[in-house]
Amino acid sequence: MTETTKTPSLPPGPRWPMALSTLAWWTRPIPFMARMARRYGDMFTVRIAHEGNWVFVSHPDAIKQVFTADPRVAHAGEANRILLPVLGPKSVLLLDEAEHMRERKLMLPSLHGERVQRYGGLMTEIAQREIASWPVGQRFEVWPRMQAVTLEVILHAVFGIRDAQRLADLRRLLPQVLAWVSSFRQTFWLGLVGPERASRSRDLRATLAPVDRILIDEARRRREAPDLEEREDILSLLVQARHEDGSPMSEDELRDELMTLLVAGHETTATALAWAVERLVRHPDKLERLRAEVEAGEDAYLDAVTKETLRLRPALPIVLRRLTTDFEVGGHLLPAGTRVAPCIYLVHRRPDVYPQPQRFLPERFLERPAGTYTWIPFGGGVRRCLGAAFAVFEMKAVLRALVSMARLRPVDPAPELTRRRVIVHSPSRGGAVIADEIRREAPAAVPAEPAPAAA
Ligand code: HEM
Repeated sequence: MTETTKTPSLPPGPRWPMALSTLAWWTRPIPFMARMARRYGDMFTVRIAHEGNWVFVSHPDAIKQVFTADPRVAHAGEANRILLPVLGPKSVLLLDEAEHMRERKLMLPSLHGERVQRYGGLMTEIAQREIASWPVGQRFEVWPRMQAVTLEVILHAVFGIRDAQRLADLRRLLPQVLAWVSSFRQTFWLGLVGPERASRSRDLRATLAPVDRILIDEARRRREAPDLEEREDILSLLVQARHEDGSPMSEDELRDELMTLLVAGHETTATALAWAVERLVRHPDKLERLRAEVEAGEDAYLDAVTKETLRLRPALPIVLRRLTTDFEVGGHLLPAGTRVAPCIYLVHRRPDVYPQPQRFLPERFLERPAGTYTWIPFGGGVRRCLGAAFAVFEMKAVLRALVSMARLRPVDPAPELTRRRVIVHSPSRGGAVIADEIRREAPAAVPAEPAPAAA
């Protein structure tokens, strides 16, 4: 890295009109980032409409500087503001500094690694039921199937809904909310009018109102539930959590955090699972090794497959921080107001960190552990994904069930391209596969998990 410059400066980047660089980023982010990295190296500046300068960083040392920056200097909540209309103002994703830490501390214990293991049985059961419904001998897409799995997991493990009518209502209503979040039309409009005005949109309010009613009512009832202390779902834990001053979370706060867990955890995990299948069916040797190890009750290769999928096909290509003061990154003193983007996609493809970076080689994670600043599918620092343990645990439970029950092959041997769906980057053909065999009865070989705790 170069010497620190004394006066604020931006790394080089394309001198295109702002409209053009914004369009390139929005429409073809992956080829755009790859091209910029080839041209400018580890750091480059892109001008984005309504946002100003975005500085992409992909050197592990620079990423470390951003992730370990004082939270008063690097604001992530402000950078995520576009999600305000759906998540609501109390969402942990949108807060910064002391407010953020207060909320994060409250939520951390319920998403802790050891605790999420209690959902293993439930996740396996949901995955088995879904896989048993897949057709044999005809083309289908795994991405929507994985969305069905992750939605069901959230309804049970996160929301803890038991009432059949409510479950049916939410299964119908939540996809409408999620469709709003991932609609290009809505996002474009949001970008134009800004999140505050979009929050008042009649169309959005009409989509959210029935869901909000159910969530707030559920939170209210949960407080009074006689078995509250025995319940394991995340809402029940949040209802019992207390801020440092002893106060419980308000109903609005609970609503906003439930919506946050849904939006942050649903499509991301479904997309990561769809990519795992997309990669595995194109590498039959790796798929067979995974099947053999799962059947033998081994976990190491499954873990490596999960990590390699998240490396090569991260659901999100970057994370963002907005600088509140001038701040040094990678030898540049970046001016206040700049948005810095630790680039998940680019650091995951560095040949100096990952030899043969384009290849799907789960074995690399058997040889070397994932690095804190070189394997960053869940971001990092005090903003690292709160659901990372939950997501990895769920991915492993679903893949275990899948290799034990299904024999899949790709419809087309050519790899699927990455398609941007506003937030997540999913397989372009939805992860199209054909099942040669589906075992409708869940085999005994699926390693036993603790009994479903949250349903
Ligand atoms: C494979 C699946 C997932 C991926 C790839 C993913 C990725 C991410 C990323 C990149 C961030 C931003 C981190 C940063 O700014 O440094 C994030 C934040 C977050 N994620 Fe996830 N996520 C996944 C699943 C989940 C799940 C299942 C949940 C909840 C059950 C969840 C809840 C959250 C929350 C609450 C935050 C905000 C953390 C904060 O601002 O302090 N995520 N996630």
